[in-house]
Amino acid sequence: MLTQPSYRSLRNPTVAIVGATGAVGAELIRCLEERDFPAAGLRLLASARSAGRAMTFRGAPVEVQALGEDSFAGVDLALFAADADTARTYAPLARAAGAVVIDNSSAFRMDPDCPLVVPEVNLESLTWSRGVVANPNCTAIILCVAVAPLQRRFGLRRLQVATYQAASGAGAPAMQELLDSTRAFLDGRPFEPQVFRHPYAFNVFSHNDAVDPLTGYNGEESKVMAETRRILGAANLPVGVTCVRVPVLRAHALAVTAEFDAPVPPSAVRECLEEAAGVRVIDDREANHFPMPVEAQGQGDVLAGRIRRDLGDPSGRSVAMFLAGDQLLKGAALNAVQIAEQMLVA
Ligand code: A2P
Repeated sequence: MLTQPSYRSLRNPTVAIVGATGAVGAELIRCLEERDFPAAGLRLLASARSAGRAMTFRGAPVEVQALGEDSFAGVDLALFAADADTARTYAPLARAAGAVVIDNSSAFRMDPDCPLVVPEVNLESLTWSRGVVANPNCTAIILCVAVAPLQRRFGLRRLQVATYQAASGAGAPAMQELLDSTRAFLDGRPFEPQVFRHPYAFNVFSHNDAVDPLTGYNGEESKVMAETRRILGAANLPVGVTCVRVPVLRAHALAVTAEFDAPVPPSAVRECLEEAAGVRVIDDREANHFPMPVEAQGQGDVLAGRIRRDLGDPSGRSVAMFLAGDQLLKGAALNAVQIAEQMLVA
């Protein structure tokens, strides 16, 4: 059951997007348009650098405003697509102004008062009576969309994941750095990285989040492990993750090994995924055609394939698979708008 809001009506909300000029912000605008979200109006907010910039919503120009203390007057629903510090500072102001917040940053994801929601997986946890709903980490969303239906059917014992993450997760400047550094590489020109520490063109490097000296896991890996457990409602699930950046613009890929409670034939896993909401199976062994970022890009579904027995586990309980999902859509903007849509119908 969904909890009734203690805020203004969300039937035809006035919507604000914080971080409208960023990579996720632009996709939020597009998702609201394409899904015909019944917004009574849209306010676009970003840093002072972008104030006055013209963007469009449903064919009409909307001027970007500098985010400030008074930005949320009259706003019913605030979609945050900026960094965690901005969310921590401004989400309370949005709440105080009577808006419900859906935040895409990591600021509130582990706050027990803020549900962490993937609608296909844990819609029952969606309550916005406390004002903030957290949109999970992009990799955790993509992983959980595919793994949750398997968990429900077969019972999950353990997850082992390696990621191949796109530039978009680090924002629009990182996507630009990938393009610019690739161009420079091809032209034989030197390129000084601005966003990442390492050369991005034709390279692969460990995720840019800081590494915890005690555990050896970087911030992204820690988020994926903790959030996956929370979304799946499995506080003690053993999850191991290695997160890596690859020179791809906007769709993440994941190699996943799932160990179930009992031996499960890969064909049963495939059938389960074929029936799962938000998943599209691409698993053509003859054509060697499996999930790829270029095919996940622009798609709302998580692509799943390469479903096979994990021969590293002689018990037969483990199945390996490969996933790909659009980091900016299901991994961020689309998931946030789907959460908002659930609020409208409640
Ligand atoms: P701006 O474009 O004015 O810098 P991305 O993740 O693609 O880098 O996007 C981040 C988004 O968050 C951008 O829209 C950016 O605005 C916005 N942003 C970053 N810092 C702030 C801030 N301090 N106040 C408001 N918006 C911010």
